[in-house]
Amino acid sequence: MIPTLGVCYYPEHWPEAQWSEDAARMAETGLTWVRIGEFAWSRMEPRPGQFDWDWLDRAIQTLGDAGLKVVLGTPTATPPRWMIDRHPDMLAVDAEGRSRKFGSRRHYCFSHLGYRAESVRITSLMAERYGRNPHVAAWQTDNEYACHDTVLSYSEAARAGFRDWLAQRYQSTDALNRAWGNVFWSMGYDDWGQIDLPNLTVTEANHPHLLAFRRYSSDQVVAFNKAQVDEIGKHSDAPIAHNYMGRITDFDHFAVGADLDIASWDSYPIGFLSDRLEADDAFKLRFMRQGHPDNQAFHHDLYRAVGRGRWWIMEQQPGPVNWAPWNPAPLPGMCRLWAWEAFAHGAECVSYFRWRQAPFAQEQMHAGLLRPDSAPAPALGEARQVADEIAALGEIGVALARTAIVFDYESAWAWEAQPQGQDFDFFRLTFAAYQALRRAGQSVDILAPDTADLSAYDLVLAPGLMTLSDPLRQALASYKGIALIGPRTDTKTAELSIPTPLGPNVPGLDVTVSITESLPPIASVPLAGGGQFLHWFEHLEGSAPVLRETTEGKPAIMGTAHLRYLAGWPDPDTFAALIRDLCQEAGLTALDLPDGLRIRYTGTHRFVFNYAPEAQKWEGHEIPPAGIHWEALS
Ligand code: GAL
Repeated sequence: MIPTLGVCYYPEHWPEAQWSEDAARMAETGLTWVRIGEFAWSRMEPRPGQFDWDWLDRAIQTLGDAGLKVVLGTPTATPPRWMIDRHPDMLAVDAEGRSRKFGSRRHYCFSHLGYRAESVRITSLMAERYGRNPHVAAWQTDNEYACHDTVLSYSEAARAGFRDWLAQRYQSTDALNRAWGNVFWSMGYDDWGQIDLPNLTVTEANHPHLLAFRRYSSDQVVAFNKAQVDEIGKHSDAPIAHNYMGRITDFDHFAVGADLDIASWDSYPIGFLSDRLEADDAFKLRFMRQGHPDNQAFHHDLYRAVGRGRWWIMEQQPGPVNWAPWNPAPLPGMCRLWAWEAFAHGAECVSYFRWRQAPFAQEQMHAGLLRPDSAPAPALGEARQVADEIAALGEIGVALARTAIVFDYESAWAWEAQPQGQDFDFFRLTFAAYQALRRAGQSVDILAPDTADLSAYDLVLAPGLMTLSDPLRQALASYKGIALIGPRTDTKTAELSIPTPLGPNVPGLDVTVSITESLPPIASVPLAGGGQFLHWFEHLEGSAPVLRETTEGKPAIMGTAHLRYLAGWPDPDTFAALIRDLCQEAGLTALDLPDGLRIRYTGTHRFVFNYAPEAQKWEGHEIPPAGIHWEALS
């Protein structure tokens, strides 16, 4: 594969006289793709049923004439003001029961069938008009499902939809009552119309009720997206993508991805470190201008799985953003490093957000490749450098990793419904395991929870899975490498109740979780031989050999040569040491990479990335801050 670059552009923000010069500069920078359209509904349909496509026709033509390929976005994340008059009840409702308002974006409820029909209508018109346009070479549905906390809506439409969904899933209220354990606290129902959304309850709502609502809400995103995909597919053969986000688990991305050709995500490394990753102040200071050294890679690997191999960066941070609590500028070189890191993980395209910084409205403080006065911003030169390097390097293959982690959105919902300890979070636990693998120098694949074949991997981690799918349970039972599951893996049924026999229940692994403890941040469970568990500790029973103990002689890891259960959440150094040992046992070369240095193999190359703010030595090479070293594999 030879990777490409792109940029996000808003022709409707600029005088038409500027378009052709912009397009020429994009092409001259070495960009291939330009994404447009995703917020322009009010320009396409200024009044209900009155269309103005001419400007969009000309914009696409101008970009195409410059040799650029267009990714055309459907504009459904920004329904115009008149839409609210047509469908006053389409606005999402928050958990406090307050309607959200017009005046920014994503102000729709996924359950509102009237709005869904409007979204199909505009998508269908766009697909008819541009489906065979030679310059429209890909599509994007909507924009960042879930952004601004918009998947869960407690509207009337959601309540009606949820009841229908429950009736289909459970068939009878008796079955639902049994599945949810509604005998508890006299919570039983005998009519679907009695069942409400699980907000505003006096104390916590029943966990299976919460989980059902998360499943229902995720299904609405899948259905909303699929309705658009179906329309586009009637008129166009171009691939269809959606742009996902970082650390968002509010809907099942594997399920949405199954209807799309390409997964893409919007990577804002500095914003994410500032506003959504757990790290201490020293770490946040050290990586303030680079982003977390493992966070981008984690999402690259996750979305490679969601896209079944095909994935892009649809939006790449180009400089300071506007939306994080603090918005520092990247170190010189990072806009190049982030792009190459994505390519090393298999991205087909990295598209910078945005071409020119807007001088108006909410994002006027968000950098682009150009300043608002059209002078080059620092990232423009870095993008050009990447384009030149792509041309020089040619093919970079994608390699299958030899280690893997299973990622499951339902488990994220389950543990949000039932955290049991304030610090237990599925993403955080999985990411901790991922960081340990990366520190050991491993390339990692992320696997969907229904994976049936693990044979490509020497080491598989499956922490925190609420339950195991049948295919994965079978695959683990017959696995020939080393699998480490736990903590909390397979300890619940799919309805978020405790199974009998108690979990985990994998054939061949006689281990049972008998007592579960969560730990406050001031506590830890020390392990014999050094290291400790934080946050979480499970007491294990069973006849499987004890492979590691706490200092009090309780099992910390139990299991067989091929399948083991981890009883707690190791701190970062303990996790790293544990993973190094497992790698070595599994026949992999395990490193202990310095802070900030990360490695990724492709089929043809080895890439070494330096996220540290100082130069690092690696196998005789001096890699500057934000530097990359690559070499062809012999
Ligand atoms: C993304 C979004 C873009 C823009 C960008 C700013 O979340 O898709 O439209 O808002 O953030 O960083």
